[in-house]
Amino acid sequence: MVKKQPGWALPDLKEAQKRSHHQTVIEKALFAIPPHIQMIGQGKKYYLRTYGCQANERDSETLAGILESMQFTPCSEPSEADVILLNTCAIRKNAEDKVLGELGSLKRLKSDKPDLIFAVCGCMAQEEEIVTLLLEKYRHVQLIFGTHNIHRLPELLYEVMSEGKRVVEVLSKEGEVIENLPVRRFGKHKAWVNIMYGCDKFCTYCIVPYTRGKERSRAMEDILDEVRILKEEGYKEVTLLGQNVNSYGKDAGIVGGFASLLEETAKIGIERIRFTTSHPWDFTDEMIDVIARYDNIMPFIHLPVQSGDSEILKIMGRRYTREQYLTLFHKIKERMPNCAISTDIIVGFPNESEEQFENTLSLVDECQFDNAFTFIYSPREGTPAARMADNVSLEVKQHRLARLNERWNQYAKLKNDAYLGKTVRVLVDGASKKNDQIMSGYTETNKLVNFVAKDAKAGDIVTVKITGCKTFSLDGEQCE
Ligand code: 5AD
Ligand code: SF4
Repeated sequence: MVKKQPGWALPDLKEAQKRSHHQTVIEKALFAIPPHIQMIGQGKKYYLRTYGCQANERDSETLAGILESMQFTPCSEPSEADVILLNTCAIRKNAEDKVLGELGSLKRLKSDKPDLIFAVCGCMAQEEEIVTLLLEKYRHVQLIFGTHNIHRLPELLYEVMSEGKRVVEVLSKEGEVIENLPVRRFGKHKAWVNIMYGCDKFCTYCIVPYTRGKERSRAMEDILDEVRILKEEGYKEVTLLGQNVNSYGKDAGIVGGFASLLEETAKIGIERIRFTTSHPWDFTDEMIDVIARYDNIMPFIHLPVQSGDSEILKIMGRRYTREQYLTLFHKIKERMPNCAISTDIIVGFPNESEEQFENTLSLVDECQFDNAFTFIYSPREGTPAARMADNVSLEVKQHRLARLNERWNQYAKLKNDAYLGKTVRVLVDGASKKNDQIMSGYTETNKLVNFVAKDAKAGDIVTVKITGCKTFSLDGEQCE
């Protein structure tokens, strides 16, 4: 057992479950690097690796911004680094295993470079069980901090560097919304824009409400200002981010909620607007209407269903039935026939019967999703589902996942086949990884296209004629 040191703040699951009723305070000047810390990264390099979702990607842009404000420079090889920072994900056990494996294999670097600092942050740092494991078995990890106190990185890192101490600061109660954090965007043409933090849905399998705290919306003007600046800087696409974007504004009483925010963002005139993730429960007609009315809001919606069986949905705490999901799905398709829809599905939820699983397959048959992210249920400590007895073997779960993947892949291919001979608008990301004569980018409906370019360069939006269709991508040729 590692003894708790004075000054450590360890994660507390019970505390993380609570929801305070006070309205979120927007802090515009909370972040400042004290003068004695401003240069501590001079001549030093950091290696930052991100696991998990877009919220983590966006947090990493802030972490990079903070480290660079302290004069650290980035490097792409862990062996060159003075600080190795892993921004972690806790959504499923295999995400955690990846991080633990990486920490294990990178440990050897410490013997060549004793001053090397290992730091762990993100969702895994919010878990009691994981922090105990890191403290006891991963003794080379010197700094652990959570999702609510990224702004404290300068002071925490300084403590580790100047005193050689192990530092743990994980807050289990969400903080305020901080508006003045530095950011180093990783993309030049596409940007992530947080619109809210946390989640209050408490689906029974999900750890996110515990690791990311209660829902807190940013002020609409702050979001719109960020988008305006991005447009001025030449960005072509923004993705509005939240665990649950359609709840935007409810915590703060923002009039019009997400539909209004989307509309105001569209009026700024940036070329492409995307958003993720939408919960089917509070997806309103106004939102569908705004998406349909503005050409610069992309006709693509990620709409996780999780299961096609109403009984399982109820035990998952998803707040809708199979029929309600289908009604929403068809309403979207009726209003926007060209809208692509993708989904998330969990198989092998505790006690899922063969018949219940087949209901998921038949829902996939009815919806014919453009894309799907499919997972085997993974019990997460502290969630209600983790306490449920489960009579489904891993073998059965794996077989169901394979059957589900085969099914949705057929429809993904069918959807892609419909593009043959059509022309589409593609925002170019750059040369394809496999062949630099070929450029790649995404259609408005979020289809990956590899195409023979004429004069297209990264950041352009070009017209491409589709000449070939695969399950996960399209091939094409740039038009005149
Ligand atoms: N096990 C498996 N998949 C999960 N997801 C969330 N929690 C779990 C879990 N415990 C999936 C859901 C969610 C996506 C981001 O991850 O499908 O939509
Ligand atoms: Fe998890 Fe449900 Fe919140 Fe999504 S809506 S983050 S699945 S609790």
